[in-house]
Amino acid sequence: MAHLQSLSNDSWFHSIAFIPRRGCKYIGFCACLAFILLSLTWLRDIDKPIDKQTSTASSPPPQVPFKEFAFSSSDPESTLEDAGSIPNNSTVAFPPLPPPDDEEYVSLCLAIRDQPGDLNEFLAHYYYHHGIRRFYVMDDGSDPPLSYTPNFGVPPFAVPRSAVTFTYITRVPDRPQPFQHIIYADYCIKNFGERHTWMGFVDSDEFLEMRRETTLVDWLHQWENNDTVGALSVNWITHNSGGQLKRPQSDTRKGFGRCVVDLPKSNNAGDENSHVKSFAKTALFDGVNSVHYMRTADGSVSVGEKGDACGIKRPPTHDMWALHHYSVKSREQFLEKQQRGSPNNHHAAGEFWDRIEGADDYECPELAAYVP
Ligand SMILES: *[C@@H]1O[C@H](CO)[C@@H](O)[C@H](O)[C@H]1NC(C)=O
Ligand SMILES: *[C@@H]1O[C@H](CO)[C@@H](O)[C@H](O)[C@H]1NC(C)=O
Ligand SMILES: *[C@@H]1O[C@H](CO)[C@@H](O)[C@H](O)[C@H]1NC(C)=O
Repeated sequence: MAHLQSLSNDSWFHSIAFIPRRGCKYIGFCACLAFILLSLTWLRDIDKPIDKQTSTASSPPPQVPFKEFAFSSSDPESTLEDAGSIPNNSTVAFPPLPPPDDEEYVSLCLAIRDQPGDLNEFLAHYYYHHGIRRFYVMDDGSDPPLSYTPNFGVPPFAVPRSAVTFTYITRVPDRPQPFQHIIYADYCIKNFGERHTWMGFVDSDEFLEMRRETTLVDWLHQWENNDTVGALSVNWITHNSGGQLKRPQSDTRKGFGRCVVDLPKSNNAGDENSHVKSFAKTALFDGVNSVHYMRTADGSVSVGEKGDACGIKRPPTHDMWALHHYSVKSREQFLEKQQRGSPNNHHAAGEFWDRIEGADDYECPELAAYVP
C-alpha cells in the first residue's frame, strides 16, 4: 500500500499536473515540454505507415477500395476494415468492401465440427465481403469447442467476436436424424429467426461470390416484398482438388482454383452445380426439406436467380451470384472430411472423389484474388 502511494505521488504525471502553480519561471519549461510532446506525436504519426508491411499503400488505404465503386464509404467501421493483409500482406481489401449490414438484415446459420481453420476463413470472407454481422455457429460437438478459438481473421481483418453467436451441441449417440435439419429449424430459426429478415444456410466449405456490383444485402432487398418468394436459391460452383494431395499452404480460396463444368442434364459431376443452397425469409420459413432448400409458408416458393421456382436443384446459372463449393479440397483434406462425417451422419464416399476429379474442369480464379 505505502509503496503504491509513494509511487503515485512521485509520478511524472503528478509533477506535470502541478507545474502551473509554481509561477512564471516555469512557463518557459512548460512551452519546451509542450514542444517536445508535439514533436513526439508527429514522429509517431510518421512511423505508422512503416509499421505496415507494404510500402505501396502507405496513404490511408480506406479510400482506395471505394474509388471505382458506388459503395458508400461514409461508415467509419468500413473504413477501418480496409487496411490490412490476408495472406499476401496486401493492405487493401479486394474486391471493394460492401457496407456492413449493421441492422443484421441477413444472418448465416452454420453447422460445423472441429474445423477452426475453415471457420476462420469462412467468417472473414462473409464478414468483410458480404457485410454479414451475425453468424450462428452451431458447434456440432467440437473438441475443443470452436468458441475456445482465441481469434478469427488476421488483424486488421479480424472478425469481432460480437458478430458470432456460438451454440455448443453435445453429441449423443441416438440423436434424431437428419440432425442438420434440426439444427437449422430448432436451433437457428426458432431461437434467432425473428431477429433477421433473411437467414442463409451454408457450410464452412461454401463461399459466396456476388458477380455484379449488387451486394448480397441489396440483392435480398430486391426480393423482400415479393410474397411469392419464400427463399432465394444460389447454385454451386464445385471446385476440385487441382490434383493436390496435401493441404495447400494458402487458404482454401487461394488453394483451389479449378472448377467442374456445368452439365445440368448429365449424370456426371457436372450435375453437382445444379445443386443450390438457400437464403430463406425467416417470416415464411416452414421447415427444412433438405440442407439445400427450405419449406416455405403461405404458398410461397424458393426461386433461383432468374425468379424460377426450384427445389434441391435448378439448371445452373451463375450470373448474379455463385456459391463456390470446395467439396473435396486436397486428397488429405478429403480423407479427413470422410473421418469427420456430417451432422447428418453422412460420410463422403470414395466414389464422390472419383466423380469430381474425373469431370471436365476449367480455371476459376475468382475468389483466389480476395483479400482478406
Ligand atoms: C508477409 O508477412 C509475413 C509476416 O510478417 C512474412 O513472413 C512474409 O514473408 C510476408 N509475405 C510477403 C509476400 O510479403
Ligand atoms: C415475384 O416473384 C415471382 C417469382 O419470380 C414473379 O413471377 C413475380 O412476377 C414477382 N412479382 C412481382 C410483383 O415482382
Ligand atoms: C496479393 O493480393 C492482391 C489482391 O488480391 C493481388 O492483386 C496480388 O497479386 C497478390 N500478390 C501476391 C504476391 O500474391
